[in-house]
Amino acid sequence: MYALALFLHVVGVGLLFAADAVDYAVVMQMRRAGTNRDLAALLPVSRLVRPLHAASGALVLLPGLYMAWAAWGWTTGWIDVSTAAFAVTAVVGRAVLAPRFAAVERKLASAGDGAPPEGALDPEVGAQARDPSLVLWVHVLGFWLFAFLYLMVLKPGWLGSLAALAVASAAGWAVGRALLAHEEARRAGGRRRARGTEGIEA
Ligand code: HEM
Repeated sequence: MYALALFLHVVGVGLLFAADAVDYAVVMQMRRAGTNRDLAALLPVSRLVRPLHAASGALVLLPGLYMAWAAWGWTTGWIDVSTAAFAVTAVVGRAVLAPRFAAVERKLASAGDGAPPEGALDPEVGAQARDPSLVLWVHVLGFWLFAFLYLMVLKPGWLGSLAALAVASAAGWAVGRALLAHEEARRAGGRRRARGTEGIEA
């Protein structure tokens, strides 16, 4: 029974990596959307992976809890830290990522016939789609996946487990911040070039 639970758990882990990779691509691509239609084209992709999130969540959680109950107990550092952190990932998914995807979807569907409004990106939708907290969270949660692998395979105590999660959080936040800074520098360069061209034309 334990071996079957471990198999199902690892299948869930595979699906979790796949679903998170798709969400990561959608979040990063949403920042590049120039029109409402560009943005609307991404939404079916994020809708497509919703069932994958539910399936992977159940396959990771239920067999994981079963194995913890059957063999490891509830006072084991790596088990408790991974269970708590996994719960946090579900809360962040619902509280940070899902409402922003939903707000963009609602706004784009508000044209009435279900088709996205024509033309340049609506500023309000653009602000939701480019929210920097999305970029920071997808990076932090992405690094957490690797922290989970570390916890599962090396099975450290409390201190090692918390340290692994802290290092992953710091690394994810730093990479997210660096990407945002790089993007801002590129946009500022583009604005400077556009002003320079205007000057020459005038
Ligand atoms: C609720 C959270 C979780 C619990 C309670 C949990 C529990 C467990 C348990 C008890 C094992 C068996 C360890 C063994 O027999 O050696 C295991 C294995 C494993 N878990 Fe988790 N897990 C959780 C979340 C995760 C997550 C989120 C990932 C990856 C992102 C993951 C990846 C793995 C892997 C790859 C193994 C196989 C490790 C090995 O065989 O050496 N787990 N997990």
